[in-house]
Amino acid sequence: MSQTYLLPGFEGDEREKPVNVASVPQRSPFRYPGGKTWLVPLFRRWMMSLPSQPAVLVEPFAGGGIISLTAAFEQMAERVVMVELDEQIAAVWQTILGGEAEWLAKRILSFDLTVESAKAEFARNPKSLRELAFQTVLKNRTAHGGILADGAGVLKNGENGKGILSRWYPQTIAKRITNIGYVTQRIEFVKGDAFAELTRFRSDRNAVFFIDPPYTAGGKSAGSRLYNHSEVDHDRLFSLCEKLRGDFLMTYDNAEEVRALAERHGFQTKPVAMKNTHHAEMNELLIGRDLSWVEDGGVLREEPAAYRAASSKTDQRKARTRSRRGHKK
Ligand SMILES: C[S@@+](CC[C@H](N)C(=O)[O-])C[C@H]1O[C@@H](n2cnc3c(N)ncnc32)[C@H](O)[C@@H]1O
Repeated sequence: MSQTYLLPGFEGDEREKPVNVASVPQRSPFRYPGGKTWLVPLFRRWMMSLPSQPAVLVEPFAGGGIISLTAAFEQMAERVVMVELDEQIAAVWQTILGGEAEWLAKRILSFDLTVESAKAEFARNPKSLRELAFQTVLKNRTAHGGILADGAGVLKNGENGKGILSRWYPQTIAKRITNIGYVTQRIEFVKGDAFAELTRFRSDRNAVFFIDPPYTAGGKSAGSRLYNHSEVDHDRLFSLCEKLRGDFLMTYDNAEEVRALAERHGFQTKPVAMKNTHHAEMNELLIGRDLSWVEDGGVLREEPAAYRAASSKTDQRKARTRSRRGHKK
């Protein structure tokens, strides 16, 4: 499946080279609902538009953490602070960033995945943080849509009937974890509340914030099905953003009540339309104090997800086979 991201303000100037989204390295071990890999080119543009390199990037709703990882690997900030409330997701980050990346990578490589072995693993009560981390990665890769919220079950037939192995790329996931282990000194992980961490850095003029909260405002319930923690006081969040000394970039669903909220707080909004070959369209909204940097947008193209997800030779071979069979993300 190829996807095209149409950015507002793009006039189709052929001199402007499209940004190839395939050049965005997939660094997260998670496949995360609401994951922001597609936003990485725009995130880079925002960071480049800042007058100087920030001392710290804070991501208060980190989830799969692709934005934080990108900033850490590409040294866009001196350090990165990732915040996540969910115990399972936190366990993965705490394990990787706490010196156990190799243990987790090896555990993944040595696990023989079948429906039975997955069920047996999930029936176990994890006795340590790193065991919970392994269970979480396994669950994330075998549950429908990567959803870790309570109630999401193990795939019986895999997505698109491709079996439980359809999202299990052990070599690739292990490699990503090992690689993150190399940049741990640049990343601080906080298992805690977004609001507390935003408040901690509120007066820091050298801090910038990437904010991607679960969205449930206006009676929409998508966020509550996807995450265990989906209740956010959005009005309070916007008020807190107003008080941040450093710059921030927020992403939300492009919903009327969100646009109204942004307007009430004096923020700018820019919709970003994401189109795929099935003509399905998703609308996301960028929110910030000054989004003039978005005007330089281009058309972003993405290669088939199966290629992007695979980096090891073994996994690439499997991915190619899936791709030939018309496998989707
Ligand atoms: C939309 S997702 C973030 C996705 C992320 N940008 C990515 O690319 O994977 C929102 C995340 O915020 C977390 N969350 C919800 N409430 C929180 C809170 N009060 N503090 C910290 N994290 C919270 C959820 O568990 C979820 O992982």
